Amino acid sequence: AKIHNHDFVIQATPVKRLCNTRSTITVNGQFPGPTLEVNNGDTLVVKVVNRAQYNVTIHWHGVRQMRTAWADGPEFITQCPIRPGGSYTYRFTIQGQEGTLWWHAHSSWLRATVYGALVIHPKEGTSYPFPKPKRETPILLGEWWDANPIDVIRQATRTGAAPNVSDAYTINGQPGDLYKCSSQDTMIVHVDSGETNLLRVINAGLNQQLFFTVANHKFTVVGADASYVKPFTTSVIMLGPGQTTDVLITANQPPARYYMAARAYASAQGAPFDNTTTTAILEYKAAPCPAKGVKINPVLPSLPAFNDTASATTFTSSFRSARKVEVPTEIDENLFFTVGLGLNNCPAGASSSSCQGPNGTRFTASMNNVSFVLPSNFSLLQAHHQGIPGVFSTDFPAVPPVKFDYTGNVSRSLWQPISATKLYKLRYGARVQIVLQGTSIFTAENHPIHLHGYDFYILAEGFGNFNPQTDTAKFNLVDPPLRNTASVPVNGWSVIRFVADNPGVWIMHCHLDVHITWGLAMAFLVENGVTELEALEEPPVDLPVC
Ligand code: C2O
Repeated sequence: AKIHNHDFVIQATPVKRLCNTRSTITVNGQFPGPTLEVNNGDTLVVKVVNRAQYNVTIHWHGVRQMRTAWADGPEFITQCPIRPGGSYTYRFTIQGQEGTLWWHAHSSWLRATVYGALVIHPKEGTSYPFPKPKRETPILLGEWWDANPIDVIRQATRTGAAPNVSDAYTINGQPGDLYKCSSQDTMIVHVDSGETNLLRVINAGLNQQLFFTVANHKFTVVGADASYVKPFTTSVIMLGPGQTTDVLITANQPPARYYMAARAYASAQGAPFDNTTTTAILEYKAAPCPAKGVKINPVLPSLPAFNDTASATTFTSSFRSARKVEVPTEIDENLFFTVGLGLNNCPAGASSSSCQGPNGTRFTASMNNVSFVLPSNFSLLQAHHQGIPGVFSTDFPAVPPVKFDYTGNVSRSLWQPISATKLYKLRYGARVQIVLQGTSIFTAENHPIHLHGYDFYILAEGFGNFNPQTDTAKFNLVDPPLRNTASVPVNGWSVIRFVADNPGVWIMHCHLDVHITWGLAMAFLVENGVTELEALEEPPVDLPVC
């Protein structure tokens, strides 16, 4: 196994998109940031130097971080932020994961521009469980604001309103031909006729689930979230923010230029969303050259309608693990968490400029009626490790405080969560099941729920209220997919299982950044086991302090 050393310099860099040049926070001046390539079993040592004017941390999305929670990255959860002028070295080993993950800033909305791919090749001396593709191409789907994203969220937080939606989607940082001032920089993937390309598709967008397709071609899905899946074919895939999907695509069409395209899967009824389409080009090397001065437009694909929940859910429920699974068949912790939005009434006498949600309210979001609050003087992991009292409590409820019709009309008194830093404590080795139940408080929508430090099995998903009498019969205990981010269907539920074998403090949150901002998160505190190999390592000496 190898050790890979990298330097990440966080810095402001001028980036031109949609006709405007903006000072943009990047890694090493690159947007998107560098692609890191490793083999399963390798160690990464990444020194992050902060030369920007914002606090920053980097999260290695989906990396299990066995016993190395200190390197996970979410600000105020596992570390204090790296202050302007500071640095921190992340050191961790990839253990057992193969496929595509990614990295991103985990501080305010910086991840809008601070992100990149993490490609994990098979362990040295082993190969893919599918024929080796001729080429591999990371495809990073993103969202671009024609504004400073930090200003966009600060403004929304100040007023209690929903933040502005993005102005463009991007493929590898480029909006593509359908946007103003963009076509000269459209991303082009060159292919030879007959060859197969492994597209490593990542949804790095902030707030939007996305459909992705390539005109006239079919995908064979072979992996997701750095786990192999039983291959299946589809012409369109859907990814929630945080999710990755590996697909094989064979250049078996007449030599020409074909668009690949992504646009929103927007499940919240009536809520505004960015309704634009980003494109890149799949270009056969043998495509006929246009006569001088003649423009041949690539073939445009058709994408599902923005509200096509049937297509989205058919896709997300098609995944089956390709490798032997170790699903716990007994459970020690039977948890039921609601995931959804809410509204806070404005305090009497508050100025109307600070309550610009619907009818003079402020947006909020919660799990089991607790809207998660980050600490500010210590990270949760540090407070836990050093036994510092008063930073968090461990009374996060195992089930919702009141039972109600989660997907029906709900009385106004249930709209307001409490705000607190509550953790749920897990014994080392506990076998955990969580029903993630979407609610329709204020609005119903699909939530991509991400758990740090773990992969979990998704046993089933469905619509309506989860029914323990009948829905347990739908559990797949044979070959459920192993993922780090579950798309909880709109007005529906997902059931996940994992074994708490990684000590530390691990945040679980909706990967729509606007929902984290509103509190759609909680954290697990996983205790050490008895042996040294079951215990959290000591913190690195350069761990940033608050
Ligand atoms: Cu990719 Cu906590 O996030």
